[in-house]
Amino acid sequence: CREIAPLTLEINELKKEKGAVLLAHSYVEPEIIYGVADYSGDSYMLSLKAKEAAAETIVFSGVVFMAETAKILSPQAQVVVPDRASGCSLADSLTGEQLRELKKLYPEAAVVCYINSTAEVKAECDVCVTSSNVYKIVASLPQKQVLFVPDRLMAENIRVEMKKMGIEKEIVSSDGTCIVHDNFDPETIAEARSKFPGLKVVSHPECTLNITERSDYVGSTGGMMQYVKATQAPYFMMLTECGLVERIEVEAPEKRFISGCKLCPYMKMNSLEKIRDVLLEPRPEQIIELDEELRLKALGSIDRMFEIAE
Ligand code: 13P
Ligand code: SF4
Repeated sequence: CREIAPLTLEINELKKEKGAVLLAHSYVEPEIIYGVADYSGDSYMLSLKAKEAAAETIVFSGVVFMAETAKILSPQAQVVVPDRASGCSLADSLTGEQLRELKKLYPEAAVVCYINSTAEVKAECDVCVTSSNVYKIVASLPQKQVLFVPDRLMAENIRVEMKKMGIEKEIVSSDGTCIVHDNFDPETIAEARSKFPGLKVVSHPECTLNITERSDYVGSTGGMMQYVKATQAPYFMMLTECGLVERIEVEAPEKRFISGCKLCPYMKMNSLEKIRDVLLEPRPEQIIELDEELRLKALGSIDRMFEIAE
């Protein structure tokens, strides 16, 4: 605490001086969320905050595709990232060119992109979705066939949900997965349930079906947090990134967790030092720049998401 307090104060002063707002995803370290962030939450909530932001500078503490989304929504602001290497295995799995090729195979399909995608990919889509609105948006589309990119595992979860909802859809997808959520083992759930009666298992729709089908709740990071806070249970197992568990431990210290979460190496590239440095003087690669034509095309798919999700 003695080490981070001066840095926290310095960042908060710099934010005022530079007219900056700091958006942080719930997976980043608690000292960022509680010490310097103006808003923290899931991808959908942070997109809304980026859209409303009137700040000169937006510092996005999360991963690069989230900062790109903020730039698409707030082009007047300088959007910067603490570490340009903070990618995402999903966003990095598909280029705009690859999607253009894929679209040729499914000319009748509605093209839906998960927000964990590049601006180039968003520009090729009809509508963007996040984990908090994906089922509602896919269900609302008039087309029977849906090309969903870039998350193959979320596409599997969509197929199952559409069936449960009694909606006939053919979901085709590209082959990306999240390196964190693709790696949980269903056997740990069975083991944990036998050791901890009453345990509630919580997971993200980026997980494999053999995890989500064994979970008590599946949802976005915001949804998972709400569920745990509102649910009485002796123990919870969170099959997601560990930052969310740390966040709930701060906000609801009475909750008990058994281990299960994993770390996202990209989210963990964020630090107070890097945030201070980017506020002092961003290096060119830390500033998000987008071609205006591409930005407007990508904005179309995000605006359509807001229209349907609201
Ligand atoms: P959320 O939209 O649920 O916050 O998910 C973002 C993410 O990257 C999960 O891995
Ligand atoms: Fe991407 Fe997975 Fe990390 Fe989320 S947890 S940012 S989907 S790599």
